[in-house]
Order: sequence, then C-alpha cells, then structure tokens
Amino acid sequence: MDIQRTLSIIKPDATAKNITGAINADIEAHGLRIIAQKRIILAKNQAERFYGVHSDKPFFQSLVNYMSSGPVVVQVLEGENAVGNYRDIMGATDPAKAELNTIRQKFGSSIENNAVHGSDSTENANREISFFFASTEITG
Ligand code: CMP
Repeated sequence: MDIQRTLSIIKPDATAKNITGAINADIEAHGLRIIAQKRIILAKNQAERFYGVHSDKPFFQSLVNYMSSGPVVVQVLEGENAVGNYRDIMGATDPAKAELNTIRQKFGSSIENNAVHGSDSTENANREISFFFASTEITG
C-alpha cells in the first residue's frame, strides 16, 4: 500500500456552479478521503506564488485573474496512490480531451475553467499542501 496525500483545488468556475458537493462525491466514490478542506478567496499575489512555475507561460496572467475571481475550495486528499489516482479522476487539463466521466469532462468548460486542480507529484503535493494548510489543520 502506498498511502499518499495530494492537494486539490475546486476552482472558481466550479464553486460558481455550486457543484462542490458533486465533486466531493466523485472524490469519495473513488476511495479518496477529504482529510482537510476550506473555502477561501485567493489574493492575486497568492495565486501568483502558487502557480509561480507557470509565470513564463502566455496564460499566466489570465490564470491568476481567474483563480482569484471567486471562492475556491482547497482540500487535502488521502488514499492509495492519491497523486496519480486523483489525476486519473480529474482527467486531462483540457475538458474537451478528458476521458468520459472524469471531473473535468463532466464539470469543466475550458482549458482554463477546468473545475479542479491536483498536484502532479508527491514532491509538489507536499509543497502545495503546506502552502495552504498548517499540519494542525489536517486530520488524517
Ligand atoms: P491546473 O492543473 O491547475 O494547472 C495550471 C492551470 O493553468 C490549468 O490547470 C488551467 O486552469 C490553466 N491553463 C490555462 N490555459 C492553459 C493551457 N494552455 N495549458 C495548460 N493549463 C492552462
């Protein structure tokens, strides 16, 4: 068993559609446990720091504006192979290319407004989890 933790963000397009519960149901149906969760509004400088790795990309400023445009729900997910498992459950970054019944295929509307974020490695998961949560806020 390789029990891992990963960071999930339910993005502003999804909170605007009031589908936090539907996304959480998908997460839990696939065996991941939501062991920490909070609904917040990101400041622009927080979004810039969180997505700093994309700062040279043409979509960076638009991404920062979008991620700070409304509430997000940040979550820590725990389970077997959580990083890869959640990426499978989310589907491809572009909802148009995501597999049937993935979160992004069902709920995303564009490559930017793609409903959810998930860490892409265990190393980044640790960094991203500590970006949003103190260890005392995580009840594993
Ligand atoms: P996410 O998995 O959170 O990682 C970076 C985000 O940038 C991505 O989801 C999208 O919301 C956004 N984005 C916007 N345009 C692109 C693009 N062309 N390629 C990848 N990500 C993009």
